[in-house]
Amino acid sequence: MTEYNTLTLEKAEGIATLTINRPKMLNALSQEVLEEVSVALDEVEKDGAIRVLIVTGSGTKAFVAGADIKEMKEKNAVEGTIFSSLGNAVFSKLEQLRQPTIAAVNGFALGGGCELALACDIRIGAENAKFGQPEVGLGIIPGFGGTQRLPRLVGTGKAKELIYTGANVAAAEAYRIGLLNKVVAVEDLLEETKAMAEKIIKNSPLGVEGSKKSINQGMQMSIQQGLALESEVFGALFATEDQKEGMTAFVEKRNAQFENK
Ligand code: HXC
Repeated sequence: MTEYNTLTLEKAEGIATLTINRPKMLNALSQEVLEEVSVALDEVEKDGAIRVLIVTGSGTKAFVAGADIKEMKEKNAVEGTIFSSLGNAVFSKLEQLRQPTIAAVNGFALGGGCELALACDIRIGAENAKFGQPEVGLGIIPGFGGTQRLPRLVGTGKAKELIYTGANVAAAEAYRIGLLNKVVAVEDLLEETKAMAEKIIKNSPLGVEGSKKSINQGMQMSIQQGLALESEVFGALFATEDQKEGMTAFVEKRNAQFENK
């Protein structure tokens, strides 16, 4: 198993939990963190026993308070582009991970932290969650996907307001605008996130993976191309044992036992 300096990766009962672990810096994303997240994602992708990935930050104060400003401060234009491209590549890998992903947002999710949550499939927030894209206050723009994923999730007008003002959004408002799927008590965050993961795990892995692929790829296409993709993924599942088992179990009035094949 790989050793990590800046994160932990725990695996139990089909769920992997990736925790960014730099609590003294509010889990700020340095280049090393991004590189280790990339390696951890490869490890999760290849692990057939893992059905859901949870992404969170250590401690209760911050999920991730952004890219590491102290490390970024001295960069020149070329280095800035390289750093943004690295983050975009890693977060795209997260977005396209075979397994579904849930961000468990504990406290501040600012800048790159908000962008990390945006690259996950689902976001559950503790009552102390705070989202924001404060980059314009630092003389930069969001550089790990915020200008692209935030408007796609909450709409262009709201995204522009959040990015131009740099204002923080508390959990209840984040829920109202669709940035959070659910808000829970601080002490229940991981338990509630795992409960959602367990609901997903009860379903056919191939069905869940196929749904993710169809949604993600379809969002990049015209609706007609997306519908054609949906029919293709739908049809391919009829060649699987899981489809036979799922429908036979329904007819026989019992729970399905999916085998991921
Ligand atoms: C480096 C950070 C940091 C960050 C916090 N720290 N955020 N270090 N990069 N993004 C460090 C602080 O310097 C401090 O360490 C320690 O963490 C605790 O933070 P405090 O500021 O003392 O805590 P508090 O007063 O409670 O304020 C919490 C906070 C604030 C509101 C979250 O830390 C804050 O505004 N952080 C920066 C948020 C931000 O601007 N994020 C966007 C970054 S740009 P020391 O040792 O100094 O006491 C970005 C771009 C992404 O993400 C794209 C790049 C291509």
